[in-house]
This record gives sequence, structure tokens and C-alpha cells, in this order.
Amino acid sequence: MTTFRAPRGTHDLLPADRIRFTRLERLAADLATRYGYRPIETPSFEQAAVFERGIGAVTDVVEKELFRIAPRTEESESWALRPEPTAGIVRAYVQHGMQTWPQPVKLTMTGPMFRYDRPQAGRYRQFWQFDVEAIGDPGPAVDAEIVELGARFYREAGLDGVEVLLNSVGDAACRSAYVATLTEYYRALRGLLPPTEQDRLERNPLRLLDSKDPAMAAPNARAPRITDHLCEACADHFALVRAHLDALSVPYLIEPALVRGLDYYTRTAFEYYLPGREGQQQALGGGGRYDGLVELLGGRPTPGIGFGIGLDRLVLALDETGVAPPAEPVPAAVVVGADPAATIDRLRVATDLRAAGIAARAELGRRKLGKQLEAAARDQAHFAVILGDEQADGQVQLRDLKAGSQKLIPIADLAREVARADAAHRHGLDKG
Ligand code: HAM
Repeated sequence: MTTFRAPRGTHDLLPADRIRFTRLERLAADLATRYGYRPIETPSFEQAAVFERGIGAVTDVVEKELFRIAPRTEESESWALRPEPTAGIVRAYVQHGMQTWPQPVKLTMTGPMFRYDRPQAGRYRQFWQFDVEAIGDPGPAVDAEIVELGARFYREAGLDGVEVLLNSVGDAACRSAYVATLTEYYRALRGLLPPTEQDRLERNPLRLLDSKDPAMAAPNARAPRITDHLCEACADHFALVRAHLDALSVPYLIEPALVRGLDYYTRTAFEYYLPGREGQQQALGGGGRYDGLVELLGGRPTPGIGFGIGLDRLVLALDETGVAPPAEPVPAAVVVGADPAATIDRLRVATDLRAAGIAARAELGRRKLGKQLEAAARDQAHFAVILGDEQADGQVQLRDLKAGSQKLIPIADLAREVARADAAHRHGLDKG
């Protein structure tokens, strides 16, 4: 028999992991709402051209990692699974005429992304991102707002000490002179470059700077830096972003080698790291400004900025730093009974509790009462509701498994009693 496994580079989120992701997704949604970012959901796949044009055809993400969907017929459009949310969100901004909405349009989305990368620790073919985008604001204040929002997300998720690396990658005006200088630099070292990088040198020299090839580490370390070639407008913008971050007391490190792996970036670029980690493969999150992207995807020239935070890497970092995962929810009550065959009674009582908003499990098997109670204790339930002969008088035994006490109560009062006692118990736990 074939034994099936999850595809390479993907991972199942079993309940304990799913609960952690759910908690992070909720925090992401709450925080984005607190900062005025509204939820959006775009499809998990788009026309491949959205990514080719938006992210850039000569980038690792498109050239090597795009998850293309095999067309079913020759006439089919060419589609690809989304490697990141920004291009799709900007496509939606243009498609739905959001440039006529009050600007900026602030949006957030959290969900799975797909990159056909070589899998390793922290690098998956399906991974989750918390993304925010502010479209229609040239900054610099919104740049600082977004950098600060990301930093706060890590703290509220329980990960302290995350560092912000910050740079400016210039704009169309200053980039071309810099790219010419960079091309000249790499051409002089041509013989030392791996063949794929030699090829890229003529097509997109900036991408050599974020090459994952170890042979590029030395040439990249000595490469000319964009920050030495910024035009006045970009240099002013960068200074103002820093001034806003300083005013908010958000610490950051200037990293002139940070260029990001996607072509759409202009001016502000940033990444989040645990101290001592470097290289985009280790980044917990990253983002930046993309003032040309809306136009590239068919809209009017519109500035924008955002970030993507990798939730898988955040969970790994929380584990590494010893942050305990959240506890799984436990039922307030488990309904058990003296008559193993009386599954209808147990299911009916549990259904009434659930209808009253109480997390309840019913013993649906036909084990003896002792075994049923053992299972209730294993579930860490607060109460066992024990059905027995007293049912004839409209009563049940309510056993408090935490306190070890038991009392007879009318079935009519059961939901109210369980809800009251469980709320009091949880309140005590919260305070403790
Ligand atoms: P990115 O730097 O390509 O940016 O990805 C953002 C984050 O997603 C990374 O820092 C990392 O935590 C996570 N990530 C990326 N690839 C993988 C992978 N293969 N496995 C696990 N985690 C991964 C973007 O995607 C931009 N869209 C961010 C942005 C939004 N810029 C402006 N707006």
C-alpha cells in the first residue's frame, strides 16, 4: 500500500499548532483593526502576469519559486499560486477602483502563501503571512506607523527583542545611476560569479545583491551601496522616516545592504530579525514602499507601503526562545451516566448545554461510568454532569472535578449553574 504524506515543504497544522496559528491570526486581525487597517481577501491564485509584472520577472520569487498551475486546456490563462499578497491586493485596488475611495486605503490580509523553494527549516512551500498595506500615502509618517505596527505585533505575540533593520533603496530617479555603478562593479568580477548570476547581471543586476548563492557573499559584501547614491528627495524621505521612528522610540538599525528580494520596492525597506540572525532566509518579516506598483498593474501612479510577517517563522522563534504555547481549550462539562446505553439522554443534555453557549462533551460510547469519569478527568473538564436514577425527579448530579465536590441540582438549573461556576473558576485562574 502507498502511504501518503503531506507534500514536501508543507506541514500539517495539528490541533496544538493550529491553535497557535489561530491565536496569531486573531492578534494580527485585532492589531490591524486597532491601527485602522481593514480586512481584504484576494484569491489564492492569480493570473501569473500579476506576479511576473508586479514582483518582477527576474527575481527568485518569480523565476525560480513561482508555483505555476498547469493549464487544463491550451486556451487556459496562465495562473500561479500567490507567492505573496501585495501584488494581488494591488490588483484588487486597481480592479475595484479603490483610487476613488478616501486615500490612503489601508488593508490587511492573513493567509497561506506558496513558493516553490528548496525546503529547509523556516523555508516552506506553503507558509502563512500576516500582511498590511497602506495604498495612496507617500509617507514618511505612514512608513513609521507600519514599521511600529510590525514591531508591536512581535511583542504582543510574546517575542521580545526583535530588531528592525532599515534602509532606503531609492526610487526610479536615483536607481538607474546606482544600477550602472553596480553593473560596472560586478562586470569587473565577472569571472568570480556563478553562471546564473552572470546571466542576471545583464538582466537585473540589483538581484545579485540578494542572491542565496554562497559564492556571492564576498562580492556582495564589498558592492557599492545604494545609500551612497540616493537622490536628494529620497535622502530627505529616509531622514524623515527615521525622525518619525525616533519620535515613537522605535529602535532600528540602518542596514545599507538590505535591498529586499522583490523588484517593486522604492525608498523605505525594512526587515525584522532576532538579534544575531541575518540574511533574508532568516527574516521574521519584511516590507517596504512600492511607489510604482499600482501603475505597473494598470492603475494611476499611486504610492504604497506594507509588510509581510511570516507566521511559521514566528512560531519557530517563539519555540526557540521558550515561550510556552497557548493551552488548548477544555470543556466546561462532560455529560456521563450510570446507564452506558443511555446515549440519547447524554447527548440531549449536552446539546442543551451547548445551546446555552457552554463547551460540553457527551460520553457517546457505552463504557461503564467509572471509565466515563476517568475520560472526563483526562479532558480536564471542570464538571461531570452525572445522569442517574435522579433524572426521574428532574435532577442530575453535578460533580465539580476541580473542587472534588458534588451536589444534586434540577436539570432546569444545569446550564445556569455550570456557566456561573465555570466563569468564576476561569476568573480565578486569570487572576492567579
Ligand atoms: P518577503 O520578504 O518575500 O516579503 O516575505 C515576508 C516574510 O514571509 C519573510 O520575512 C518570511 O518571514 C516569510 N516567508 C517568505 N518566504 C517564506 C518561506 N518560503 N517559508 C516560510 N516563510 C517565508 C513579501 O512577501 C512582501 N509581500 C512584503 C510586503 C508587503 N512588502 C510590501 N508589502
